[in-house]
Amino acid sequence: MEVDANAGGGGGSLVLLKQGAEARVFESNFVGRRCIIKERFSKTYRHPSLDSKLTLKRLNAEARCMTKARRLGVSTPVLYGVDPVLHTLTFEYVNGPSVKDVFLEFGLHGVVEERLVDIAAQIGDAIGKLHDGGLVHGDLTTSNMLIQSSTNQLVLIDFGLSFTSTLPEDKAVDLYVLERALLSMHSSCGNVMDRILAAYRKSSKQWSSTLNKLAQVRQRGRKRTMVG
Ligand SMILES: Nc1ncnc2c1ncn2[C@@H]1O[C@H](COP(=O)(O)OP(=O)(O)OP(=O)(O)O)[C@@H](O)[C@H]1O
Ligand SMILES: [Mg+2]
Repeated sequence: MEVDANAGGGGGSLVLLKQGAEARVFESNFVGRRCIIKERFSKTYRHPSLDSKLTLKRLNAEARCMTKARRLGVSTPVLYGVDPVLHTLTFEYVNGPSVKDVFLEFGLHGVVEERLVDIAAQIGDAIGKLHDGGLVHGDLTTSNMLIQSSTNQLVLIDFGLSFTSTLPEDKAVDLYVLERALLSMHSSCGNVMDRILAAYRKSSKQWSSTLNKLAQVRQRGRKRTMVG
């Protein structure tokens, strides 16, 4: 789908990339640069003005968390702007595949060991930095991680569920979500989670309390699966 629009200040076209339950993501251009516009919309079953307030709160939270991650030394897209009326965030377009695409490709055509090792190290390092800075990503899946083609650098996106916390439990759940996603979708990547955790231990000063909690969270997960 392609429609003319003036949103984003670039006056360019909008191309819909993803229609989700709570957000639409478009590709467009912003003062001549390729950009992403993420529009949050309301769930219609709530009260309209309350709805708009909540949407705005989430929009601001996402912008704040993304900016905070960047301050902590984690690569994220540059935020170009927040529009509180249109409920949009505009940020830099990152050119490159998602970690999901890269790992699925490994599943189809064989693992490129060197690339896997490099990506896992970058993931562990980035999460360690976030967590030591008191930021929990909240949605660590391989589709929310991009690899910038020009630099091979990992870029984290989608801070829509992020929050600040210093609790080892919250950090452990963050890692657990990633572990489950890797196990279910990327079994061909073998022990990639072990590599990620090895890098996490190097990156986070508080690794020990987080990884102890992770062991407990795994146990709980296992019990839950056994119960059904
Ligand atoms: N800065 C970016 N550069 C390139 N592609 C992006 C960028 N941001 C998002 N995308 C693409 O758009 C997709 C959806 O973006 P995002 O993950 O932020 O939204 P979402 O998953 O719908 O959000 P939410 O989980 O908060 O509802 C990403 O998986 C990615 O493919
Ligand atoms: Mg996403």
